[in-house]
Amino acid sequence: MITVSAPGKIILYGEHAVVYGRSCIVTALNCRLTVSVSETEDGRVIVRSPNCKDRRFINSTLLIAEKELNIKHKGLNIETKCSFSGKYGLGSSAAVTVALHKALAALYKVAIDKKTLFDIAYRTVLNVQGRGSGCDVAAATFGGTHRFVTGGRIIRPIDTDGIPIIIGYSGIKGSTVELVGRIAKKFKEEPEKLNRIFKAIGKIVKEAEEALIGRDWKRVGTLMNFNQEYLRDIGVSHEKLETIISAAKKAGAYGAKLSGSGGGDCMIALHPDGISGKCAVSEAIRKAGGEVVDVSPNAEGVRIEKS
Ligand code: PMV
Repeated sequence: MITVSAPGKIILYGEHAVVYGRSCIVTALNCRLTVSVSETEDGRVIVRSPNCKDRRFINSTLLIAEKELNIKHKGLNIETKCSFSGKYGLGSSAAVTVALHKALAALYKVAIDKKTLFDIAYRTVLNVQGRGSGCDVAAATFGGTHRFVTGGRIIRPIDTDGIPIIIGYSGIKGSTVELVGRIAKKFKEEPEKLNRIFKAIGKIVKEAEEALIGRDWKRVGTLMNFNQEYLRDIGVSHEKLETIISAAKKAGAYGAKLSGSGGGDCMIALHPDGISGKCAVSEAIRKAGGEVVDVSPNAEGVRIEKS
């Protein structure tokens, strides 16, 4: 039996724009999804995945691993465990895809480097979702924090050790596929407006990279606020997210924004005390009806836990 784990992720800047060729900054979180795989002889594939209701990513991984890694099995037992709920939108689908590819490669002794793993896992996710940048796949594969351009055209590590972010869940489940589709429709209707906004977001991402490296938390926060204004402008925010974001800022956050595709899911806020967990901003997020998700950034990428 092989056990492999991969981390969840959160996007610090640049969501949506990244789908249109701009950069985003994504960080891996220390909440992990674990996959255990063992071989059987009865020709059946048994999947036990209580926290991963959406089996399409597992099914698509099996098909692609067979085709691209030339893995021929006689039957498999697959079990997944997740230290975080899929409801948060923290990248459990990408994590299960990356971890399962890695586990299958290890079980059948197929050598696979991280870039190849990223490429096949990204194709697997596209197979299911049809559209997406793959930034979540990059976080699950490489870990750490990266500036990333769609499809992995750029995957550049950024040292953000110690970044004091606080993550709040809005309680509303957003749908990535629906929101990415909505923006694709808008892009067709108003290409100039959206191009202008995505270009501006791309500039924010580049400035944020410098600010992060320089540990200039005030600037890091201000740039989150700028990014949020553009996200609101393209229509992917949500009343509840806005309430929590504004509560976090009133409580002293240097900046706050939604994170991911929007329409619900999570927001992030930045405050120097954020790292301690005892912070007025966390309290304000809770008071505004959000749930503080106790995770930290810059986690390790996919790894073999047991073989
Ligand atoms: O909703 P999430 O956390 O899966 O993030 C989606 C991010 C987008 O930029 C909107 C889409 C993508 O594939 O990058």
